[in-house]
Amino acid sequence: MIVVDSGLGGLAVARALRATGTPCAYLADTAGFPYGHRDPADINARAARLIAAISAELAPQTFVLACNTLSTLCLAALRAQFSQRFVGTVPAVKVAAAQSQSRRFTLLATPNTVDSAYSQKLIAEFAADCVVDRVGAPLLARLAERHLLGGAVSDDEWRAEIAPAFRDDARGCSDAVVLGCTHYPLVLAQLERVAPWPLRWIDSAAAIARQALAVGGGQGPAIAYVTAPADVERYAALFAREGFGETRALAI
Ligand code: DGL
Repeated sequence: MIVVDSGLGGLAVARALRATGTPCAYLADTAGFPYGHRDPADINARAARLIAAISAELAPQTFVLACNTLSTLCLAALRAQFSQRFVGTVPAVKVAAAQSQSRRFTLLATPNTVDSAYSQKLIAEFAADCVVDRVGAPLLARLAERHLLGGAVSDDEWRAEIAPAFRDDARGCSDAVVLGCTHYPLVLAQLERVAPWPLRWIDSAAAIARQALAVGGGQGPAIAYVTAPADVERYAALFAREGFGETRALAI
């Protein structure tokens, strides 16, 4: 089983899998990161190349796309193109709609995810009776990646990314934020600290891990792959702390 993301966003899913005794391999398309603004046609092409390249290397039976941008844009095409099993990640709009008291919540995600037809369909299907503010955060995945790699991010930088997710006006008050990008739960403590008011933060990492285990597909190996050779050195220590004994470059 291999967890795939544009960067480090899939780590929460990888942790949840390891906690159940199912270590996985990990693939970060660091040469393509971030996906949030990239042309969807280009992301689709990269996704197909990633799956082909890692299949030649590891032959995994199951791919866990721990990336909302990748899943909302490419999941259907990948399933049509490859015979392996794919577990996708989609924003937890259904959960938020079921729990919202104020009937107003925010989908906070990459610009590509909030604009995707998939997200709009989710909202129409499961949250038709709610006000759903779709907020594309221009830099938040990049800030999270920087923070996770040990770089400094100021409170003002975090605040600027999440401020538009908090609405309070005649249409109601936001009582939840759907974390529609897998990078965001990894910096939840930072986001909570600068939030204008406390509310419910909803993410899907545990649900994806459960789904991956239900689909099956075997363990690891506990190797992490990055797609830019120079990133091996930059990411290796972090991946080692997350249980990936080796970090390798994958050419796509
Ligand atoms: N972690 C990814 C997601 O869940 C995308 C971050 C990015 O590459 O912009 O959408």
